Amino acid sequence: MRAVSLDEYYSKENVSPVSQKIKNIRAHRFRRQRLLFALGIPQIAFKNKDILEVGPGSGFNSIVVYESNPKTYTLIEANLFGLNEARNNLTKFKKRSISTKLKFINRSILKINPVKKYDLVLCEGVLSGIKNLKQFLKKLDGFVKPNGLLILSTVDEISYLADSIRRLLIQTDIKGATCNPYSLAKKYEPVLKRHFRNLKGMSRPVQDWIVDNAVNPASNLPLYNLPEIIHTLNGKYDVLETWPKYIEDWRWYKNLVGQRSNFNAVAKSQYWAKCHNLLSNRHYLAARNAKTNQKLYNECKKFRVCLRNYEKQPSNANLRKISMTLGRVANKMPFLLSDEKKFLVRLKRLLYKPYFDQQMILKNPTLMRWFCRGQQYISFVKI
Ligand SMILES: C[S@@+](CC[C@H](N)C(=O)[O-])C[C@H]1O[C@@H](n2cnc3c(N)ncnc32)[C@H](O)[C@@H]1O
Repeated sequence: MRAVSLDEYYSKENVSPVSQKIKNIRAHRFRRQRLLFALGIPQIAFKNKDILEVGPGSGFNSIVVYESNPKTYTLIEANLFGLNEARNNLTKFKKRSISTKLKFINRSILKINPVKKYDLVLCEGVLSGIKNLKQFLKKLDGFVKPNGLLILSTVDEISYLADSIRRLLIQTDIKGATCNPYSLAKKYEPVLKRHFRNLKGMSRPVQDWIVDNAVNPASNLPLYNLPEIIHTLNGKYDVLETWPKYIEDWRWYKNLVGQRSNFNAVAKSQYWAKCHNLLSNRHYLAARNAKTNQKLYNECKKFRVCLRNYEKQPSNANLRKISMTLGRVANKMPFLLSDEKKFLVRLKRLLYKPYFDQQMILKNPTLMRWFCRGQQYISFVKI
């Protein structure tokens, strides 16, 4: 079976499962502005600038960029259904004071020649569904002006673990059969609604979450972590900021000399010392040995490789392989996450049984409140 990318899946199903329930536009605006601010980009940085957004989906987050009144704002979205929704959303929120020139392009960024360059390129929630990181980042880079900004978000093998376990349970129910994504979403909505009640600030409809995370084949592609992204950008960019904030740097500013000041090396080493904190949004633990965290990362990655194999061939042998990797992930988790570790060990045993009840496992109180840290945001400056 050929791997499917995010845009291919959305276009094929004619869906854009990334809507947000915006009951309060002021709260939404504030949330988004704070995120960009935390990445070192206050609102004023957008004013009179040329901005490109790649993969805006239905454009709910684009509203806030638009309201910052950039000179031009170009949205490139491969999925026509999503792009039309983005167009509607931006029209709905247009204020008289906005003079931005808007442009909507319905194509894959991979098929566009970067003729025009932009001050700022935004690409949020896209990297988790692409097939070739190097090719994709090289393409994005082509659109960024010298000294311009690139803002990316990524989920990685650790920060997506709990959601991958939810996916595993739903996939063991489907067992490779083709199904209508929204019928399946309806079936699992009641139980997953109970999970998301524990995730304060969740603004996405649960059915969209299920279609995108538990059914969409592109959500089970390999994931990329911060050090891999830095490495792939190949020295052309320096990390400006991240959210969550890994980077602590106590050097004297007068020592930030030389061409590069090693911002990327510091960011990478801080990631490996702290990435176990991506496992749970309820814990913040002290930094630990980088090698221990690399082992944790590899076990989480192996778990998702086994899940991918199971989805291609839903056999008992493949399920057992998943079960074994779950035990190893539990082994590498920090001691303080004892409930989550116990849950994984229990799940490992259940997967060996000839029959298990997915709905019952999904009602496990530990799983119901287990959320990893999900998306991580990174702002880069082109050198
Ligand atoms: C998960 S959605 C994220 C939407 C939005 N940025 C957000 O954060 O809510 C990813 C979007 O990127 C689009 N996309 C993925 N690969 C793309 C590509 N190569 N070119 C243009 N759009 C792409 C998908 O169609 C989808 O709408």
